[in-house]
This record gives sequence, structure tokens and C-alpha cells, in this order.
Amino acid sequence: MCGIVGYTGNHEAAPILLEGLKKLEYRGYDSAGIAVMNGNAISLNKVSGRISNLCEKTDDGKATPGHAGIGHTRWATHGAPTVVNAHPHMSNDGKFAIVHNGIIENYLLLRDELQQKGYHFNSQTDTEVVVHLIDMYYNGNLKDTVIKVASILQGSYALGVVCADDPETVVAAKKSSPLLIGVGNGENYFASDVTALVPYTRDIIYLDDGEFAEITREKVVVFDSTGKDISKEINHVNWDIQAAEKGGYEHFMLKEIMEQPNAVNATMTTRLKDGDIVWDDPGLDALDLSSFNKIVITACGSAYYAGCAGRYAFEQLCRIPVQVELASELRYNDPIIDEHTLLIVLSQSGETADTIAAMRECMSRGASALSIVNVVGSTIAKIADYTIYTWAGPEIAVATTKGYTTQLTVLYLLALWMGKKLGKLDDERFNLLLESLKTLPDSIQEALDMNPMIPELAKKYHQAKAVFFIGRNTDYAVALEGALKMKEISYIHAESYAAGELKHGTIALIDDHQPVVALCCNAGLQEKTISNIVEVKARGAEVLAVTCKGSEEIVSVADDIIYVPQTETVFSAAAEIIPLQLLAYYVAKENGCDIDKPKNLAKSVTVE
Ligand code: G6P
Repeated sequence: MCGIVGYTGNHEAAPILLEGLKKLEYRGYDSAGIAVMNGNAISLNKVSGRISNLCEKTDDGKATPGHAGIGHTRWATHGAPTVVNAHPHMSNDGKFAIVHNGIIENYLLLRDELQQKGYHFNSQTDTEVVVHLIDMYYNGNLKDTVIKVASILQGSYALGVVCADDPETVVAAKKSSPLLIGVGNGENYFASDVTALVPYTRDIIYLDDGEFAEITREKVVVFDSTGKDISKEINHVNWDIQAAEKGGYEHFMLKEIMEQPNAVNATMTTRLKDGDIVWDDPGLDALDLSSFNKIVITACGSAYYAGCAGRYAFEQLCRIPVQVELASELRYNDPIIDEHTLLIVLSQSGETADTIAAMRECMSRGASALSIVNVVGSTIAKIADYTIYTWAGPEIAVATTKGYTTQLTVLYLLALWMGKKLGKLDDERFNLLLESLKTLPDSIQEALDMNPMIPELAKKYHQAKAVFFIGRNTDYAVALEGALKMKEISYIHAESYAAGELKHGTIALIDDHQPVVALCCNAGLQEKTISNIVEVKARGAEVLAVTCKGSEEIVSVADDIIYVPQTETVFSAAAEIIPLQLLAYYVAKENGCDIDKPKNLAKSVTVE
């Protein structure tokens, strides 16, 4: 949550900070602010709401001259999304300004102590203690002071600090929140995410936890908590700037939906070689699969639902028990996990706080952790014993689409590879399934192409008070993600139900014109789901069925049909989710919702 940027160099800082914040706005958009060094004064501008308000207030930065500064876009945790609570926060004398992403867990205690010493607090944030501590411990050397203050803080932080005494220097610190340094020529940067840096530089230093950086125009010095310099590798990133632009689409979400055939293809092809699955990811080939007696999959949000769909592939192809656990629950469940557990961790951002905590908990009990992550160099990728990257490219819309389908792709590849290695699939079955898996990008493209009427269907359903999503087995897993997409971007109440469970509760809610989206692609269970469709129809429901080409039986029972291409049932979720992403998108559009930035949400949830 929250995005931070920093700049020092030959150019005007404010426009660069504002552009960086725009790229980070997906991390939170409750309020925004910048602090720019102007001679030996710090000029502060803060607004509630979007970065556009800040651009307006500062005349796109022109009204705030200066060559160094810091900026912040906020997802509120401590204190309402007001101007006062917006970052940067300043010391009482205006000498220091800071931005912070993370949570200071011992802030109440620190605030009491600081208040007793006469510090005045303006905001309700946890962050404000940090700036007052810096003021209190300042000894003329900002770098040493930040090290001292960091040693007092508990919790997580990516911090950017400026001091009026030294108008060309920015100091950064990292613990459990993402922070990267951009190395330029006569100018240097920091940011929460590489998307904010690639318009300016592709030379990136990934800070590790417990590291600090002193950033001036001419150089970046990284040091540890004893103040000792650390030599860091400069990574050259190849990200295409256009990948983080809308490219003619009205919303990032629609662009990212359309990118799925390519993203899935990119995720798969590097791992296919000579009719086999060969990992180009370090260490994986040496993994001793026979030592595991179960798989635990953990994640949050859509990544958790990808895990729910992936479970069927592991169970069927590897015949190994799989538990899928919400990371926010698993971390506190005293889980029964040991060295015979393979932990699979799914995360688009690689920074989700609950997922990181669950992962650490399981690893401390002996589990081997294999992460499936989109953001290279992210925390989860670094902590895991093994990492497989999804090559989805930057995902900007808060509601994930290509992140989810590329996670599924890796899960399918992994299940198939493990099934073969464990001797659960003979060559013939393996080859057949692999051939089917290779068609996934085409099936997704087909699912995108074959439903031009979804915008029309959205007009029919957009005023619904609630939408139910039902399905069995793999179809149920898709129902979970379909309902999440609908609620997060259209704000329509959506519930997913295992179709067989309807009679134990939800059917009581069905009456005239209640929309029910029935997922019906699992060939072995189609008859059963059709009975459930008949049951809700008998109570007045309006049924939109999602099914495969050729299943004509449903035509007689459903009110509307969306077709998706036929795929192997274990791999069906990837194409089946496509029309549900589009439906949620067009319903949200009908309702005039802010599709890329739904209210109250953020893309990267780095707080518990
Ligand atoms: C947030 C996002 C979701 C995402 C979830 C997990 O809630 O809005 O789209 O699925 O976090 O994120 P991760 O980066 O770990 O996949």
C-alpha cells in the first residue's frame, strides 16, 4: 500500500515526482503529496484524493521549483484520507520531511514519549513519529540519524527523508516494504516500483531489508545499519515503457484482459523444450519431489482463487493432497507443516504482507517454499527457496486479470511436470496433456473473440442488486474469481457458491429476475449443474450460463449463453474466466465506476 518516490538531480524535481506518483497510483489513491527542496526551505503540497488534484494544485509541478524532493500516494491505514494525514510529514520546525510506505507498529508508544518531550502531532498517522524522531536524534548527519531512528522502529517501512540543511540529498531506508533506486546520469531516484523509474532510467538497484541509501545527484551510496558501505549490483531492466501505458485502451483493465494470450504464451514458451517441460528457473530441476507428502498453496485475493483452481490439477495429475489456504488465515493457524510440505506461494506483486508472513511461518516449520511471482526481485521471490516468474509484464489495473491467468499457467505446467516426475502420468497421457496446455493462448484468444455480445449482456445485468455465481469443481473455482471481479470493480454484491450447496442456503435468496451466472464447462459434472440451473429457474432466476461450444442442452434451460472453447477440464479455468472478466468490466463501465482504481482498494497490499 502507498507508493513513494524521490529525486535529486539537474532537472526540476516536482514534475518528475508527479509523473512517478501517477505510475504508482495503483498502490493507493486516498491522498497525495510532494515535498521539494527549495534552497534551504522545504515546500510542501498535499491534497486528498487523486494525483490529478496534486497536479492541479501545483500547476503540474511548475509552481514548486527545486531540484530534489520526495512524493507519496496513500492508501489510508492510520487516520482518515485527509490532507492532514497525507504524506510527506514534516517536523515541527519544517526542517525535515518524510514519506513512508508500511506500518510503524510501535508508534503509539513512541508518540507518547515524543509528546512528553514537547513534540506536537498534526496527524493521526503512524508515520509522523518517524519525522519527529529524526528531528530529535539529528546530529548534523542525516544518514547516521536515519540509521539510529530505524533501529527504534518496529514494523515495516520504505522511507524517504529530506533535510533542509542538505538540499541535494535524499536518504532512503527499507524494511519489509519495496524500495528501488534508479541510477541516472547527474540525477538519481528512488521509488516503490520500477514502473515509476523506467521513463528515466533502466539501471536499478534493488535494496534489501535493513539497507539504507544516501542519494545525491552524482552518486548513490548504499550502506547497512552499522553505516558501512555495501557494494550493490546495478540491474538493467528491459521493461517496455509502453507496457505500462494504456496504448489506446480506455482502461488498463481492458488492455490487460486483451494481453492475456500473449502473457500466457510468454509465461509458457520459455519452459517448453523438445516436447517436455524444462524450467529455466534456478534450482527447480533438482527439487526432490518424492520427499513431499502434501502441497499447501497460499495467497490472497485472486491469487488465492488461482490456487483454488490449480489444486484440481495437482490432485488429479500428481495424486498428492493439496490444501489451499488464505495467507491471512494460515499465518495464525498454527499450521501442520513440516519438511515434507511443498509450499506454493502465489503473488502478482510479490509484496503482499499476509502472504509474506504466512510464507515465513511455514518456512520456519521446515516447508520448502516455491513462489510464483510476477515482479522480479520482489520480497516473496527473494525469500522463497525457488521462484518461477509469470511473465505477464506490468499489471496496473487494481483488479488482476493477466496476473491470474499467468499464475494458472504456471500451476498447470508445474502440476503436469510433477505428475510426470512422480510417475503418476505415463508418457502418452503427459504428451496429450502437454499438447492441450500448449493451446491455452489460442483458447484464451478464442474466448476473447467469441463473445462480442458481452457489452450488451452487461446492459441487461448492470442494475442487479446481487449476482450469484455457481459451479462445481473447476467451475466452482472460476465462480470464486468471477464473483470477486464483479464485486471489486462494479460494487455489485456478488456471491460464489458451489452449485451443490445452493439447496443448503443460497436458494432461499433466489426469486424473480435474480441473476445467476452458471459455470458449466466441466464436462463430467455438466448434468449436475444443469439440474441446479433448473432449480434456480424454477424460482424465477435469470440464468446466464457459461459453457463450451457444443453443449446444446443448456440452450433450453438458460436465458443467456456465453460460449468458451473446449479445453482439458483440469486446465479449463484459464479460458473460462475470460468472459467473466469482460462481464465485470462492462457492467462496471455501464455503472460509471472507476474501473482501474476501485474505491477502497489498492493493488499491492503491503499491510496486514
Ligand atoms: C489485492 C489486489 C488483488 C490481488 C491481491 C493479492 O487485493 O487488489 O487483485 O489478487 O491483492 O495480490 P498479489 O500481488 O499477492 O497477487
